[in-house]
Amino acid sequence: MSGNLSISAIAFVAVFLFGLYRFVIYPAVISPLSKIPNAHWSAPYSALWILSVRYRWTENHVVRAAHVKLGPVVRLGPNEISIGTIDGGVKTVFGGGFEKGDWYAVFDNYGVQCTFSTLQGRSHSASKRMVSHTYSKLALQTSPAIAAQAQSILFTRLLPALKASASPSQKSQGIDVLQLWYALSMDTITAYQFGLSNSSDFIRDTAYRSHWLELFQSRKPYTYYAQELPCLTTFLSKFGIRLVPRWVDDKNQEIEDWALGMCNAATASSNKCSSYSDNPIEEPVVVRAMLKGIQKESNKEQSILSRRISDSTELMVATEMLDNLAAGHETSGITLTYATWHLSQDLELQKALRAELLTLDPPLKYSSEQITEGSPLPGLPNLKTLDSLPLLHAVLSETLRLNAAIPGSSPRVTPYPSCNLVGYEIPGGVRVCSGAWTLHRNADVYPQPEVWDHTRWLEGDGSSGEALKEREKWFWPFSSGGRMCLGNNFAMLQMKLALAATYTNFTSHIVRDDGIEMVDGYTASPKGNELILRFEDV
Ligand code: HEM
Repeated sequence: MSGNLSISAIAFVAVFLFGLYRFVIYPAVISPLSKIPNAHWSAPYSALWILSVRYRWTENHVVRAAHVKLGPVVRLGPNEISIGTIDGGVKTVFGGGFEKGDWYAVFDNYGVQCTFSTLQGRSHSASKRMVSHTYSKLALQTSPAIAAQAQSILFTRLLPALKASASPSQKSQGIDVLQLWYALSMDTITAYQFGLSNSSDFIRDTAYRSHWLELFQSRKPYTYYAQELPCLTTFLSKFGIRLVPRWVDDKNQEIEDWALGMCNAATASSNKCSSYSDNPIEEPVVVRAMLKGIQKESNKEQSILSRRISDSTELMVATEMLDNLAAGHETSGITLTYATWHLSQDLELQKALRAELLTLDPPLKYSSEQITEGSPLPGLPNLKTLDSLPLLHAVLSETLRLNAAIPGSSPRVTPYPSCNLVGYEIPGGVRVCSGAWTLHRNADVYPQPEVWDHTRWLEGDGSSGEALKEREKWFWPFSSGGRMCLGNNFAMLQMKLALAATYTNFTSHIVRDDGIEMVDGYTASPKGNELILRFEDV
């Protein structure tokens, strides 16, 4: 009896000592991560703190505060760190091609990976290569499809909608520009993907757009479980306990069906048409590139994507297109909302911007009498000239700095056996995050970081060329390296066209901006989910 007792006691002590070593002494004293300052006292022992920060949607503020207090590297959990500096940090992680982890699996559509959600480097490159040339700056600036589609969307949808909102009967109540800019961004990206007739018409079809945006936004809080607690979510589901309600799946399904419909229509059009040179507005540029890319990969003896291709080429196209339109409409919509909010607070700036826009040849002037059935639409200015307008560029850059649409942490996994980050040796398999929220608020690089000041981006504002270079180095709204945003050139072009068309013809004024502060999330729309502006003819 006493022999049994002492064996149990020894076993208990052994388990206790092992636990003490494994969960207290090792993470706090021996692990290479123990040298890194802790964002919270419990960070070495448990992920509970950072999980609760994320659950409460406070990560961007909390992590930034930790960096301000503790320096460029902080420990967020037993196996997670955050990097808040470029040299030796962001450059190494994102420029060095550290891979994504399972956190990104929620961005799969139809159960199929897309470029954004592909984890491994080689399959990611093969997937991205199929469409990336369609999003290069040169391809976009010289694309007959973009020119024709943008001309139609601006002159027959956006400008008439703004004009109607400026009419005496409607003017005082204003319009919700968050919805309008989501709509403009969606119509523009889907037109480029699918051709104009097969794309969305969210600017005019306000009822369906509201329905769709509600579908899209309402699912968001539930990504937390799959991203942060994947094991618990799967485990509980085995016992019929769902952390994510069934209606979320139903909404996902409806969005997937909607995108698949557009994809299939575009594929059918592309299969029928050998050239769109007579009708560029209908060219489904991105779908066509993807179909060609899949054909090329299928012809290879060994393709890294052969599994995906043999499963379903239809879904392979659809997952990519759905990802691009989801990523594209939301981020650009948010950026345009904040750009027009900042501009609406400064009529002098609007005046200076208009003067710059009127130098375009032809300027984007609109009059409803000009636009009659059957008559040609006004031409667009040269897109390269538009891109090089300094004030327009500065307004957008400063908005992307202060109100980055994806300010949240982009997690990566450190490679084996180890790597060096900002002087610390970090073992493989550690989750490492960086986010634009922290990087864009470095007061040494952006003095008074919470102030929106477009002159930071103008040459000759009194600061040295070196200071401007440093600001550009820390500018990270589209991430960097091999996993940098695929659509950054598209987004910039589309947003510049939208702002140019708007401020050539109207002035904007705030009617209601309650809740304009950003949601503290991976993507960050206004908390109030609206911004009401009033437009007046110039
Ligand atoms: C203002 C507009 C936009 C912003 C601020 C933005 C921002 C970003 C950021 C920060 C990332 C990296 C995220 C991460 O690694 O966690 C990203 C990736 C990506 N973005 Fe965008 N984006 C914008 C517009 C677009 C558009 C219009 C498209 C449409 C093609 C697009 C497609 C993508 C894709 C496919 C990726 C993944 C790239 C890869 O993994 O290689 N984005 N974007």
